[in-house]
Amino acid sequence: MKKIIITGGAGFIGSAVIRQLLAESDHFVINVDKLTYAGNLESLAEISDSPRYCFEQVDICDAAALRAVFAKHAPDGVMHLAAESHVDRSISGPGEFIQANIVGTFNVLQAAREYWDALPETKKSLFRFHHVSTDEVYGSLGKTGCFTEQTAYQPNSPYSASKAASDHLVRAWHHTFGLPVVTTNCSNNYGPYHFPEKLIPLMILNALSGKPLPIYGKGDNIRDWLYVDDHARALRLVFEQGKIGATYNIGGHNEKTNLEVVHTLCDVLDELRPQAQSYRGLISFVQDRPGHDLRYAINASKIERELGWKPQETFASGIRKTVQWYLDNSAWVSHVVSGEYQQWLQQHYKNRGNL
Ligand code: NAD
Ligand code: TYD
Repeated sequence: MKKIIITGGAGFIGSAVIRQLLAESDHFVINVDKLTYAGNLESLAEISDSPRYCFEQVDICDAAALRAVFAKHAPDGVMHLAAESHVDRSISGPGEFIQANIVGTFNVLQAAREYWDALPETKKSLFRFHHVSTDEVYGSLGKTGCFTEQTAYQPNSPYSASKAASDHLVRAWHHTFGLPVVTTNCSNNYGPYHFPEKLIPLMILNALSGKPLPIYGKGDNIRDWLYVDDHARALRLVFEQGKIGATYNIGGHNEKTNLEVVHTLCDVLDELRPQAQSYRGLISFVQDRPGHDLRYAINASKIERELGWKPQETFASGIRKTVQWYLDNSAWVSHVVSGEYQQWLQQHYKNRGNL
């Protein structure tokens, strides 16, 4: 049994990791989350009464509060997921991304280091700091090739630049201070409990309420989609068995253009919630995202070879599960779509001058 601090545990991926850890391991989880617009404790309803779970509402930009959490809980490791995560928001308001993703990661590293420094040798060597990052740090691919762990960093958006900065801080805290770190860089996730500002849940919910499906540019940008529970399994493996100081790419071998993704969603909805006209009729091409990366694709052979990880879900099976989950969970959706989100969305499209 390990005690693990999970930052950002009320978010999309963090909540999937916590639900999985409580269901499939005997670890104790301390969820450290500020509860921004993207954090929602309802995503943890099924495990919140577990004696192996506790919640600390803490902003990772608050260094003193973080130190207190480490002192109080004496963890065996940290999985650091807390971040601002949406590229469009990083374009309209990059300041929050600098604070949460760079300053916040610095604070988590410092609190972990101070705590780790004081541990007895036996506990010190077992401690892990796992930094959860994105493939977007590598920039944009052309039509061919894949990101490997050796690909040079070329982040293009304020979001990916802030995550690249945090990756570099984690690397430096290992090389300079000896903190035992592992880092993972993952492709686009999808699945249940995904905040509906991201492509897949946004399209499902817009379609269900008869609203336009806004595709940026021509819809020919490519992302490599991974079902969130497959990501959670990979994170647990790396946390437990990853080599100290190493980075691992995680991806789903599911490259799709955005238009293909939206067509698939419409087809699944046509089957599960049929209407007189196909949902494809709602597709609307809108002004492109500034600096929109053309293509991401992950070579995940290192994690497969060294740790034996492979995604279990295909895109077809994962998308079907996801659509069904949104059909069955309208209460979760109506609670997360707060007034603040509605305001941001209106401003986003006003700035774009269309839709
Ligand atoms: P999310 O936006 O759904 O959740 C982020 C969580 O972090 C929320 O619960 C939020 O309340 C919390 N948070 C934000 N700022 C905080 C702060 N200052 N202090 C404490 N908590 C704070 O994000 P996600 O999609 O679950 O992503 C989790 C991590 O995985 C992020 O680091 C992201 O960069 C990375 N990642 C995401 C994807 C993806 O496709 N979503 C892919 C690869 C990597
Ligand atoms: P998103 O879910 O924001 O993830 P990321 O930007 O981190 O890859 O977007 C996925 C892709 O979908 C990306 O190419 C942008 C595109 N997109 C749209 O075409 N329309 C939308 O309304 C959104 C949110 C995204």
